[in-house]
Amino acid sequence: MNHRFADRTLSDLALSLPGSVALLHDHRLDFGCGGQRSLREAASEHDLDLQRLISAFDALPADAPAPDWQGAGSAPLIDHILARYHQVHRQQLPALIAQAQRTERAHATHPQCPGGLAEHLTTMQQELEWHMCKEEGVLFPWLRQGIPLTHVQGPIGVMRHEHDEHAQSLLVLAELTDAFTAPADADEDWRQLYAGLETLRRDLVEHIHLENNLLFVGAQQPG
Ligand SMILES: [Fe+2]
Ligand SMILES: [Fe+2]
Repeated sequence: MNHRFADRTLSDLALSLPGSVALLHDHRLDFGCGGQRSLREAASEHDLDLQRLISAFDALPADAPAPDWQGAGSAPLIDHILARYHQVHRQQLPALIAQAQRTERAHATHPQCPGGLAEHLTTMQQELEWHMCKEEGVLFPWLRQGIPLTHVQGPIGVMRHEHDEHAQSLLVLAELTDAFTAPADADEDWRQLYAGLETLRRDLVEHIHLENNLLFVGAQQPG
């Protein structure tokens, strides 16, 4: 089946097609670390109906507002990543860890209790913090100074590798939480915890996407 969307990569769709980010999230398609796959490949990998997926992309309103990070320079993109993702992860993770500890304690005997969730989130928090510190302290200042990407391929390779590890951590998170689905008899705190984890998942995929597929490939304007 040939179609204007089928063979475009997920990262290209996310960057250029307004509304596509929400649609990719809704189908749990990772356009951060998995951004170089075509929509056709991703659909096949996740056992999704390609035709239905294409119809959903077709139905997106063409005039939906979307920030054009491809037209921005490195500096505005880095400012955005720091404010919208680094700062937000630092707020959301401690709250989610506390909420996970409460839920694990309150529902320890429930068959769907997410045992080990708080511990996993604590590991994610430590790994993310260390990763973000390296970006903030070393790589981002170099990129702001306009050091050519070809000169910083080593550090970029390390960051990409750590992004892959974050993506793996998100898969474990999905396993621990039945794909972020609280049981029918879950209380409000449990439901809110899983809604917060879903938000963390979406934020982290978008965060990685903007670095892997835009900032680290110099696809935006210099500046
Ligand atoms: Fe980052
Ligand atoms: Fe990163």
